[in-house]
Amino acid sequence: MDSFTYFKFKLCFTIFFFIHYGLASAQLSPNFYASSCPQALSTIKSVVDSVVSQERRMGASLLRLHFHDCFVNGCDGSVLLDNTTTFTGEKSAGGNINSLRGFKVVDRMKSHLERICPGVVSCADILAIAARDSVVALGGSSWTVRLGRRDSTTASLSAANSNLPSAFANITALTSLFSSKGLSAKDLVALSGSHTVGMARCTVFRARIYKETNINTAYAKSLKSNCPSSGGDSIISPLDTTPNAFDSSYYTNLLKLKGLLHSDQALFSGGGGFFDSQVKAYSANSASFFKDFGKAMIKMGNISPLTGSKGQIRTNCRKVNSG
Ligand code: HEM
Ligand SMILES: *[C@@H]1O[C@H](CO)[C@@H](O)[C@H](O)[C@H]1NC(C)=O
Ligand SMILES: *[C@@H]1O[C@H](CO)[C@@H](O)[C@H](O)[C@H]1NC(C)=O
Repeated sequence: MDSFTYFKFKLCFTIFFFIHYGLASAQLSPNFYASSCPQALSTIKSVVDSVVSQERRMGASLLRLHFHDCFVNGCDGSVLLDNTTTFTGEKSAGGNINSLRGFKVVDRMKSHLERICPGVVSCADILAIAARDSVVALGGSSWTVRLGRRDSTTASLSAANSNLPSAFANITALTSLFSSKGLSAKDLVALSGSHTVGMARCTVFRARIYKETNINTAYAKSLKSNCPSSGGDSIISPLDTTPNAFDSSYYTNLLKLKGLLHSDQALFSGGGGFFDSQVKAYSANSASFFKDFGKAMIKMGNISPLTGSKGQIRTNCRKVNSG
């Protein structure tokens, strides 16, 4: 084919990809609520600041809600829906049940927003903003949240069961899951840094502390006192040595084989290679972690949003609008 024909093909493909992939996320914009609900961001931030000052862990829980929303059929607020007669909600999925928290805080944000600008701010956007504000409240750096997501009218328990990462996953499985969401290996390392805050239950790290060998001995021993070899499934331990501070100590812990989850330690083996060097880099330079974290959160927040006339703006984040 001559070069002009090739050029036409290329142009065609470029336009095709732009229409199908570019526009969807291009429609998200930092100023989406600037005229329709100018107080949206400050309203959400004040609730985040208030709940985090009461309980630091709630910041971690809100951050995780946005992640569990985005990984299951995109950032569409589906994680917030309760069971209905037509579908079972995602709250009872393996990765969510007895684990995901913060739903009442989201209800509080939503009811404030419905009072000041009824029917305007989506539940999916509330999660994206609350995640950013939580990171900032816990000491991390800010990023500009893109907005304009709309809410789903359904949820999928089976999608939640198959799209949320397991604490027992290896690096191959984690990389391929993140790649299926358009997230790179570098994004995986940066986003896993979320485990610099919050807690995990004994049931998700028991096998690691009793059966694995690539774990710091003293660290494993101290965890055993709070996680018996059987029973006590829901006793919690911190994911990081400083679980109330968004910092780079998650990575420093991995270098010492003090990752709590199998999936955490999977990022660092000591054998060299991309993951090891990325963990070392973030451990040594929290500014580069913060910068890459913000970029990766924007990418995660761009996963398959509902925009334009798709979906709806739920008035209650737990329920599809009636009528
Ligand atoms: C890389 C794969 C990941 C796996 C396998 C994973 C798994 C887990 C598990 C098992 C827990 C403990 C839950 C419990 O025991 O109740 C947890 C907690 C947490 N995860 Fe992840 N996670 C991953 C990535 C992420 C990402 C990308 C984010 C955010 C962007 C995130 C944010 C959090 C937070 C903040 C907590 C603590 C929540 C709290 O204290 O309420 N995780 N994660
Ligand atoms: C939602 O449905 C699932 C599956 O039937 C059930 O296990 C769970 O308890 C229900 N959740 C609530 C809050 O009713
Ligand atoms: C990683 O986990 C997957 C899925 O559980 C498994 O099929 C695969 O064999 C594992 N790979 C390695 C290198 O252990």
